[in-house]
Amino acid sequence: MKVLVPGSFDPPTNGHIDVITRCSKVFDEVLVGVIINPTKDSLFSKENRSEMLEEIFQDNKKITIKSFEGLLVDFAKKNSVNAIVKGLRAMTDFDYELQMAQMNFNLADFETIFIPSSPEYGYVSSSLVKEIHSYGGDVKELVPHNVLERLKNV
Ligand code: PNS
Repeated sequence: MKVLVPGSFDPPTNGHIDVITRCSKVFDEVLVGVIINPTKDSLFSKENRSEMLEEIFQDNKKITIKSFEGLLVDFAKKNSVNAIVKGLRAMTDFDYELQMAQMNFNLADFETIFIPSSPEYGYVSSSLVKEIHSYGGDVKELVPHNVLERLKNV
């Protein structure tokens, strides 16, 4: 079974890495979809976000990284994935994710499978990482080493 884990990954966090790695233990193939959103300013370019993920998962042959533009279900169809996977941190994620899951099913019959985040990453998000880093706070426990190095240069 091939699944798609989509996201902005701006930047990838230890929470993302945990969910993607655990997916690769359950499913045969994991496609990580890095969204290119022309209306949303991102800290890192699409190339940088994909590169960081490629570096992190270079030794895991079940995981591939691709960027995409447009509807998630179109990207999912084009890449012949069987289902979408999302990590859930808390009930606050659930409302929004449920709505998207129902919409994606309604649009193209794609099922969404939720994976609970590991408790140690339940509070980690890319936006908090960026905020803390922008004020000079220490984020080394929250992101992989290569992301930390890139954050130092932005
Ligand atoms: O990491 P994020 O920003 O929470 O990821 C959000 C993402 C990329 C999963 C979501 O914005 C998305 O699916 N965008 C693609 C456009 C689309 O299909 N929109 C309708 C969703 S029901």
